[in-house]
Amino acid sequence: MAGELRAEHVGTRVRLAGWVHRRRDLGGLVFIGLRDRKGVVQVSCDPDVLSEAAMEGARRLGSEVVVAVEGEVVARPPEAVNPDMETGAIEVKAEAIAQLAPAETPPILVAYGADEELSSEELRLRYRFLDLRRPEMQRNLVLRHRIFQSIRRTLDELEFIDVETPMLTRPTPEGARDYLVPSRVSPGEFYALPQSPQLYKQILMVAGFDRYFQIARCLRDEDLRADRQPEFTQLDLEMSFVSEEDVWTAIETVMVAVWRDVAGRTVEQPFLRMPFRDAMERYGCDKPDLRIAWELRDLSEVLRESEFRIFRGAVESGGRVRGFRVPGGAQLSRKALDELDKVAQSGGAPGALWTKLSGSGAQGGFGPKLAEPELAAVRERLEALDGDLIVVIAGADDLANPALDALRRHLGSVMGAVEEGDRFLWVTEFPLFEREPESDDPVPSHHPFTGLNLEDLDKLEHDPLSVRSRAYDLVYNGSELGSGSIRINEPNLQRRVLAVLGIGPEEAQRKFGFLLEAFKYGAPPHGGFAIGLDRVVMHLAGASSLREVIAFPKTTAARALMEGAPAPMADKDLKELGIKLS
Ligand code: AMO
Repeated sequence: MAGELRAEHVGTRVRLAGWVHRRRDLGGLVFIGLRDRKGVVQVSCDPDVLSEAAMEGARRLGSEVVVAVEGEVVARPPEAVNPDMETGAIEVKAEAIAQLAPAETPPILVAYGADEELSSEELRLRYRFLDLRRPEMQRNLVLRHRIFQSIRRTLDELEFIDVETPMLTRPTPEGARDYLVPSRVSPGEFYALPQSPQLYKQILMVAGFDRYFQIARCLRDEDLRADRQPEFTQLDLEMSFVSEEDVWTAIETVMVAVWRDVAGRTVEQPFLRMPFRDAMERYGCDKPDLRIAWELRDLSEVLRESEFRIFRGAVESGGRVRGFRVPGGAQLSRKALDELDKVAQSGGAPGALWTKLSGSGAQGGFGPKLAEPELAAVRERLEALDGDLIVVIAGADDLANPALDALRRHLGSVMGAVEEGDRFLWVTEFPLFEREPESDDPVPSHHPFTGLNLEDLDKLEHDPLSVRSRAYDLVYNGSELGSGSIRINEPNLQRRVLAVLGIGPEEAQRKFGFLLEAFKYGAPPHGGFAIGLDRVVMHLAGASSLREVIAFPKTTAARALMEGAPAPMADKDLKELGIKLS
């Protein structure tokens, strides 16, 4: 193919087909950049070789016209060698050139190479067929394909069975809103598109398929961000007769193989594990970025009687003072330090407190407000050295944690303290429930089918928030890749958990009756996992948004700009579905 030609091909005759990337007309000679899936090669059209008519045709070729070229691969003269192009040592001397399809002037340039500017993302999504011609997008989609192949290979070797589950289904409880599809045959009734195959995979376990997987499309109507799409793809997996370790081993085997197969990177197994409680205490977050070594320490004890009102007040009102040291951070500019308030506010805290350490004490921020022994105790607790910056948040954990996490990530990047590497982490023992902010009611931390630590069973009804679950997340370099759990497989316990969630027998029957019914007839102990594959591809591609690794993504307003969806429906179509717009 065009993009694969190298010096070793000099002297061979080739037939190429592709798109005109650029045309340069030098009066006599015409150079055409011919682009195919593998790259761009220079084709030279020489009036000494081609007929008058062929030269005339070559001069008229615009960008993105589809052409076929026949000719010989020749070495470029030394002064014409282009070291920035993979094919830059050679060119193809055209002996025949034919137009296979015309092209209008493209609305966006098919950018190639570092010096060609990208169009706005809106235009790139609107003309996705042109944007996808860019080598970067081609590479991303090929990478995606190779990741999926690697996953299928590994899971086949591990004797997992790929089973498809329905797209038209009942609502599944993953905590987002459902996309609904009206039924024409049963007016007034709706299917839901699956938020995940959760209930089906559990039923497959009851049905005796003890190792299931699927590369499954999931649909969730939720607020979108760079790492969220309304339609996304999971590696979904479920196993019977297993404990946590078995699920982790299966997932680790898959991930290690993917990193090896597509990136040639070695990842050590087993992955690190950390209980949720420790992750929150040490990093303020359930998906810590372990590439940044700094850990949080609790300073409440040494500051509970501080003269500095903010510290004393925080501890008196039941909060804490926690912080971390930034090695060498005393060199940060005033502007960089002022920035910290904003970072803390993005995490929900009123602001960040800091001080710089030097041989003569603490400079700036809260340091001078502390008594000498207090400052010494803080230094000791943080094992801080001269030249360090100390960053602290005072207050209740639920505000302080997100702020401390944001500050750790921000300063890690500002200080260049994010180490290279692939840091996988299992976060385990999530609480079974969390408090819903508005109503204070318990809601599932994961989903209502998550198993619980049986040591906590007697607290289920009277102290639900203290019950530990058997859920776990997989975290990669500070971002959540997937979640799973060992499930409940016992109808009575499942009913009890649903009752804590305020879902009585009738509602349970209506919503999940089919699962509860299946559980009556011999449900094996089971557990599983789901990995967000778009996120995996994004990380391995080094991309910053899922839109870069999905062929036809949606905007953050959940719109498809190329095909124009969603779109209004004609009255007659709505009528057929029994729908009237209000
Ligand atoms: P969960 O809802 O945590 O678990 O989803 C698993 C993983 O899917 C990815 N993900 C998304 N990726 C892109 N866009 C989105 N909108 C989006 N939402 C989720 C994340 C996430 O970690 N059924 C359970 C799994 C189980 O219990 O086995 C589930 O779906 O990477």
